[in-house]
Amino acid sequence: MLRPALLAAARSTRARAAVERTPLARPIVDRFVAGCGLDDAIRAAHHLVAEGCRVTVDHLGENTADSAQAAATVDAYLRLLAGVRDAGLAGRVEASVKLSAVGQFLATDGEKIALDNARRICEAAAAAGTTVTLDMEDHSTIDSTLGILHDLRVDFPWVGAVLQSRLRRTETDCRELATTGSRVRLCKGAYREPAAVAFTDRREVDLSYVRCLGVLMSGQGYPMVASHDPRMVAIAEHLATQTGRTPDSYEFQMLYGVRPREQRRIAARGRTMRVYLPYGEAWYGYFMRRLAERPANVGFFLRALASTT
Ligand code: FDA
Repeated sequence: MLRPALLAAARSTRARAAVERTPLARPIVDRFVAGCGLDDAIRAAHHLVAEGCRVTVDHLGENTADSAQAAATVDAYLRLLAGVRDAGLAGRVEASVKLSAVGQFLATDGEKIALDNARRICEAAAAAGTTVTLDMEDHSTIDSTLGILHDLRVDFPWVGAVLQSRLRRTETDCRELATTGSRVRLCKGAYREPAAVAFTDRREVDLSYVRCLGVLMSGQGYPMVASHDPRMVAIAEHLATQTGRTPDSYEFQMLYGVRPREQRRIAARGRTMRVYLPYGEAWYGYFMRRLAERPANVGFFLRALASTT
């Protein structure tokens, strides 16, 4: 019951205004978001790298409604990538990009604008000496996103993809993307999806995750295991051993602020652990999706909200 309500609130401007008016919400937001500015992101990235982790930085924002906003997002990524290079972090810190933030949904030529914008970001990443991963949004965007990925990989074969085990199509997508050098982040999927395209039972989503992991680990690509679920982490390690993978041929990924001690433990075991680090003014939708995943945080958050009204 709570998860759908929170995912609906993630799209509500009234709910957003209520959360933004709430000073007590800020410490909870700070747990999951590095801050609003580029300096905040670079500072947090330095800290994570010092702890032995790698990082993928996300400039928060999605569903851009006009091309000026999309261009502003591209500029933010160009500044981010220059900042990563200047801070000497390029070997350990990359960028994650949502195509809807760079124009994918614009009514006129959205896909073309998103491709051109993503290309500029990839050029900046190449100049800085790092890589880019394209985040995956709801199921209606997948064909478009994979099409843009395909085009970008002609010039930038290191561009990473994301696939979501919640979706019925994903095992097939994994087979298609498990090719030499192909970086694929496997997650469970953060969006509310209809049963026609998605598994609705948690157990089915988990079983799908394991099947997809099997495909990626036995393929030729570079699997990026994005989950906080201890069972998925253990199964990934088991499959990596079974398929003869060395620790540098796959990586784990977790979100900033979620199971941070486990992140450090995995890095200390000599595994690659990459932390997804979001920053920027547009933190609301991202934050609400994290709350929806973790009922334990919700009670604390709602008490903070109620105390100001
Ligand atoms: P699950 O939700 O089953 O949680 C397993 C356990 O992890 C929980 O029991 C709890 O212990 C812990 N946990 C999970 N979430 C928590 C939280 N918020 N706070 C505290 N503890 C928590 N999705 C998407 O649709 N598109 C994308 O591009 C991405 N990108 C992405 C990158 C990275 C690096 C990660 C880790 C995740 C994503 N996701 C994503 C989100 C993903 O789809 C999924 O919603 C979350 O990772 C939660 O799923 P888990 O696999 O962690 O398992």
